[in-house]
This record gives sequence, structure tokens and C-alpha cells, in this order.
Amino acid sequence: MTSLRDQTILIIGGTSGIGYSVAEASLHQQAAHVIVASSTPEKVTKTVARLEETTTKNNLSGKVTGKTLDVSNSDQVKKFFAEIGELDHVVITSGDKLKLGFKGVDLETLKSALDVRFWAAALIAQQARIKKGGSITLTGGVASIKPPPGWPIVAGLAGAAESLVKGLAVDLAPVRVNLVAPGAVLTELWDSLPTDLREKLLQESADKLLVKRVGNPEEIADAYIFLMKCGFITGETLHINGGQTLV
Ligand SMILES: NC(=O)c1ccc[n+]([C@@H]2O[C@H](COP(=O)([O-])OP(=O)(O)OC[C@H]3O[C@@H](n4cnc5c(N)ncnc54)[C@H](OP(=O)(O)O)[C@@H]3O)[C@@H](O)[C@H]2O)c1
Repeated sequence: MTSLRDQTILIIGGTSGIGYSVAEASLHQQAAHVIVASSTPEKVTKTVARLEETTTKNNLSGKVTGKTLDVSNSDQVKKFFAEIGELDHVVITSGDKLKLGFKGVDLETLKSALDVRFWAAALIAQQARIKKGGSITLTGGVASIKPPPGWPIVAGLAGAAESLVKGLAVDLAPVRVNLVAPGAVLTELWDSLPTDLREKLLQESADKLLVKRVGNPEEIADAYIFLMKCGFITGETLHINGGQTLV
């Protein structure tokens, strides 16, 4: 069985939701060093403490560190990767507040929807130095196949990210580059919505799915772990959405 033993894994967006679960799962997979990064220093500090608790509780040997990084700032990204050195794997789950809507929405606002989820991911892939056998994993979403009303730009960026990983897999080979495209997953991403609306949307999403529930971040994390561990997969998108594309 392959594992992540002795490997160093950077998770950008690792202070919350799916990224946090990837960090925890990596430690359980015996990663030697997990680095979580995101733009809020307090979240980084809290997450490192939370992950250290996990390692102590489960008697895991992996080291945990945290870095503050705003991926929408390209100078910060370049400096970050110039300093951090070689890594085995980079996982990118960073996502800011979604910019939804289309008709009547200012074009500059719509364009900015791509800053964190698309352009920053491209820059990270350009700047990261990955060791032999290593990988980069991006995050997209089911909107590339099934956009709900009001999501044309998010659908476009999710589809563009799936094509981006194909091009990056060719350009960065032998570094492997893949993407995980989740459906509805219960994470802090939904916290910005009022509780009633959140519950309603989650219930509606669950009812529509073949599995009759939304996903949890731990089961999405499994996909990232697989893409890091499997040395024979590159340029691919893994769709994990409870059957959403079939209904
Ligand atoms: N949850 C879902 O239902 C779902 C479904 C499909 C796709 N996705 C996609 O999956 C990704 C992860 O989602 P999630 O649910 O785990 O979201 P989340 O819980 O909101 O986590 C987002 C993470 O991104 C970080 N982040 C935001 N802006 C950043 C920036 N400028 N620079 C660096 N880090 C930044 C956040 O930390 P800071 O605030 O500290 O920066 C946080 O750690 C997102 O791209 C999301 O669109 C999620």
C-alpha cells in the first residue's frame, strides 16, 4: 500500500472545510509535514493548534505548521514559494465568497470571480517546486456540468479549471496535476448564509441527490489523498457529488 509517509504537503485553504479535512487525512496517512495556509492569521494559528491536538490524540508523528498567504496577491504568492522550498504535494482548496448572478452584474465583479479559484491556482502551479513523484491538486465543482440558475460565471471558471489541469499536466510533467470537483458539501463555506436559508438550500440539495444527503468534507478529502498517492493519474478531474450529474 502506498502512503504519504515522509512527505511534505502544503494545503492552501487548509484552515477550513475541505482543506482542513485534507490536512487531517494527510496526517492520518503518515505525512511527515503538513503545512496549512490561508489569508487569515488567526485561522492559521487556530488550525495548527487543532491539527496538533489531532496528532497528539491519535499518536501521529507528522509535524504541522501554518503560513499566512493571500493567494489573490501575486507578489505574496511568488515570495511564499521562493521561500518555502521543495514540496511533495500542493493541494489548493482556497475559495473566497462566490460571486453569483449574471444579468445586471458589473463585468469587473464577474471577472474577479476567477481571481482566487482560477488565476491564483495557475500562479501557484507556476511557482511551486515539486519533488519527483509529487503532485498538485486543484479544486473545481459540479457547476461545470450542472450549473444552477445564477451560476454562469462560476460554471465557466469550474470548467476552465478542469481544462487548466490538463494543460498543466502536460507542461509540468512529470509533476502530476489533477482536480477534485465536489458537489454540495457541508463546510464553513455555507456559514455566510442566514441559518434558515442555509438549512433550506442544504435540504433541497440533499433531496435532489441520488444519495439523499449532502457530502461531508472527510469523504471529499479521500479524493485528494487518492490523487496524491496514485502515481499513475494526471490531468484528470474526479467528480464527487452524490450522483448530482445523473438527476
Ligand atoms: N462546500 C461546498 O459545497 C463546495 C462545493 C463545490 C466546490 N467547493 C469548492 O471547494 C473549495 C473549498 O471549499 P470549502 O467548502 O472547503 O470552503 P471554506 O470552508 O470556506 O474554506 C475556504 C478556504 O479558503 C481560504 N481562502 C479564502 N480566500 C483565500 C485567499 N485569498 N488566499 C488564501 N486562502 C483563502 C479560507 O481561509 P481564509 O479565510 O483564512 O483565507 C479557507 O481556508 C472552494 O473553492 C469551493 O468553491 C465547495
